[in-house]
This record gives sequence, C-alpha cells and structure tokens, in this order.
Amino acid sequence: MTNIRGRFSKPADKLAAEYTASLPIDQRLYKQDIAGSIAHVKMLAKQTIITQSDAKKIVGGLEAIRKEIEQGKFKFKAELEDIHMAIESRLIDKVGEVGRKLHTARSRNDQIALDIRLFTKEAIADTLKRIRTLQKTILDVAEANKDVAIPGHTHLQIAQPVLVAHHFLAYFEMLQRDYERFNDALKRVDVMPLGSGALAGVTYKIDREFVAKELGFSQVSRNSMDAVSDRDFVLEYEANAAIAMMHLSRLAEEIVIWSSAEFGYIELDDAYATGSSIMPQKKNPDIAELARGKTGRVYGNLVALLTIMKGLPLAYNSDMQEDKPGFFDTVDTLEATLTVFAGMLKTIKVKEENIRAALGRGYILATDVTDYLVKKGAAFRTAHEIVGKLVNYASEKGKNLEELDIKEYQKFSSLFGADVVKITIESALAARDTAGGTAPNQVRKALVAARRIVV
Ligand code: ARG
Repeated sequence: MTNIRGRFSKPADKLAAEYTASLPIDQRLYKQDIAGSIAHVKMLAKQTIITQSDAKKIVGGLEAIRKEIEQGKFKFKAELEDIHMAIESRLIDKVGEVGRKLHTARSRNDQIALDIRLFTKEAIADTLKRIRTLQKTILDVAEANKDVAIPGHTHLQIAQPVLVAHHFLAYFEMLQRDYERFNDALKRVDVMPLGSGALAGVTYKIDREFVAKELGFSQVSRNSMDAVSDRDFVLEYEANAAIAMMHLSRLAEEIVIWSSAEFGYIELDDAYATGSSIMPQKKNPDIAELARGKTGRVYGNLVALLTIMKGLPLAYNSDMQEDKPGFFDTVDTLEATLTVFAGMLKTIKVKEENIRAALGRGYILATDVTDYLVKKGAAFRTAHEIVGKLVNYASEKGKNLEELDIKEYQKFSSLFGADVVKITIESALAARDTAGGTAPNQVRKALVAARRIVV
C-alpha cells in the first residue's frame, strides 16, 4: 500500500477522505493511466534511471492490474483517493518494493494531465465517427425523399416551399461544421504533458519525446506550468459539444413539431417513441424532447468548468479535479444523442399526403406571385403591396391564391395575365436555382457533394 502521508501524525478524517476522493469518477481513466505508466517506466529504464529488470516487473504488474480491472476483480478502495494511487498501491502489493519506483520523475499533476489528454483524444475520435454516422443517415433520408416539397418556415409561419432534402441538408451542414470543430481541436489535445512534474519539470534526465511516441502524441508540451494547470482542451470539447447539442436540439424541436397531429409531416417508428401512462392515444417523441433537455446539462457542464478554472492561480489546484464529472457526462450525452438520433431518423416515415395538404395553406406562393409582377415590370415594393392586398382579399373569401380567377387577380393589377396559373409549388422550387438554393437541380448537386464528404 502506498502512503503519501509521511509528514502527518494521523490518518485523514473519514468524511474528509470521502470528500477529497475522486476514485468513483476517475476510475474510468484506468486504461489511460496504465498506458501512461507503462510508457513512463519504459522511458525510465531506457534512460537508466531504473533497471530494465525493474521496469519489466513493473510493466508486468501494470498489465496484470489492467486485466484485474477489466475482469471486475479489482477492488476500488475509496481511501486510496484517486485512480493513480489505487493502481500504484495495487502494483506495490503485487510486485513488492520495486513498485515503489514507478512514480520516479513524475507527479500526479502531470499524470492526470496525461490521462485526460489521452481520454480526450479517444473521445474526439469516437465523437467524430458518430457525427459521420448521423450525417450519413441524414443524407440517406434526404436522398430517399429527394422530390418531396415541404413548407419552409420563418417565424414558424409558412414561408416558401423547399425540398425536404434541402431542409435535411441544412442539418448535414451544421454537423459538418461540428465535425470540423472537433477535428480541429484534436491538434491542441495532441500534446504530451508528462515530464512537467508537479509544475517545474523534473531533476532526472528523462526522454519526453520517447514517451510521446510510445503514446502516439505528435508533440510534447512546451511549458511545464501550463501543461499541468490548464484544461482548455477539455473546455474545447465541452464547447464543441455544446454547439453540437444546440444543433441536435433544434433538430429535436423540429421532430417534436413535425410529429405532432397539427403538423403530421412525419411519424416516428414505434421503437423510437413512448406512450403515455394515462392517454392511450399518445405517441410521444421522448427521445427528441430528452435531447432538447439534455442540451441544458451539456451547457451547464461547460459553464461549470469555465467557472472552476477562472480564478485559479498557476499551477495545479485541486479545484481542477472537478473537471471530470461534467466532462464525462458531456461525452456520454453527446455520443448517445448522436447515435440514438441516427436510429430515430433512419426509421421516420415522411407523410407526403399531410405535407401536400400543408403546402396548400398559408399562401406559400405569395413571394412567387410578387416576383411574377416584378418580372412584368412592377417595382418590387409595389408588387409586394399589391400581393399583400390580394392575399388579404383571398383570405377574406376563404380561398387560396390558386382558387382565384384571372378577373379577381386583375382587380389588383392589370399586369396579371392568364399565365399567373403557371405559378405552382414546382415552379417556385425550380425558380430558386441559385447556388445553395432549393431548386431540385441545386439540391441534386448538394446531395452529391455531401455524399463525397461522408464516404
Ligand atoms: N485526482 C487529481 C485530479 O483529478 C489528480 C491528482 C492531482 N494532484 C494532487 N496533488 N492532488 O485532478
């Protein structure tokens, strides 16, 4: 058993020990901690700081401990404070005195910085994969409904028709930026902090580049005080996650709205909906609602860590131990949301009849009628006013613009001709043939471009 209380005359108070322990949370870092220790010990031997035979025993012991943990045989004793002490202590039990050499030229401060950086690198790689999977699903849904037009909204009021594929591709774009943000963060996480010691470096002739190479880092940290005392790379993950969750939460909101009886644009698969305990008719979009709700927690985790860090003098402070619960929660929440959304979206049913009916409401072609007048010679503002009056007239009659006859149109402007009937949902879509617009021709190109990104 390790003892780092050499200078104390009594053991820690029980509640105080429980209060300071992080083991229930940071035991999740056992793999990174052991990998870091193995690389460190190999380096110590290579530099003849310890002997090769000692190193072998220590590495063997650490590998055996990894197995014990993975087989559920390892006892995590809270009095051992954190994962570093728990593993080191078990090592000494297993291999004896030689285990006491593991912590040569190292501090728990650079050790934890290493563990979290290793964890963050893996978390980013996994998050990137899950973003790609969701992007692929979104693209599949867009392609499967390539020709379906849907009312586009602004202010949640019917605005202009768009292709449903165009709508979904908007989320594809958001996720693409999320992907790029995480990917970009990787190069700042990919820095090896071990060798910084407690804060000032260490007094042994260590080889930091060797450790970096062993652990797959592309560079070593340049300042020991910075290396042990910043968690900006955790914050970056959390900030990127907050933005990604914001995007997913907006998509969630649309799923809630679209699956309502009032909209009825989509129906969720039974496997991704829940019932009500009292109202038998209900099919609730719980996953989408919970994603919206969990977004609040992910924001909270970001703000919590920003707040934890903001007043800390250099270098390490125990406050930083509080980085982990929120960070792990954010990684788990984002990753689960990305994956469950892929499943949910893959199985949604797009209800074309309801969508078609919705397209007939809300004077969705009013902008196109305005543009028609402009192309016949009216100034845009004048045309806007004329069509505004026309819509008001139709609305009072309880009619659609398509249901008015040409005489009625001409009461508002003599520029209206018989060809006004050619304004349809299809013509409105086709007319928006600008780069990034919703014309079928543009959307087809966008689908091809998107497919190239995710293959
Ligand atoms: N458990 C600590 C953390 O998670 C690591 C140990 C830091 N060092 C110390 N002297 N308490 O940040």
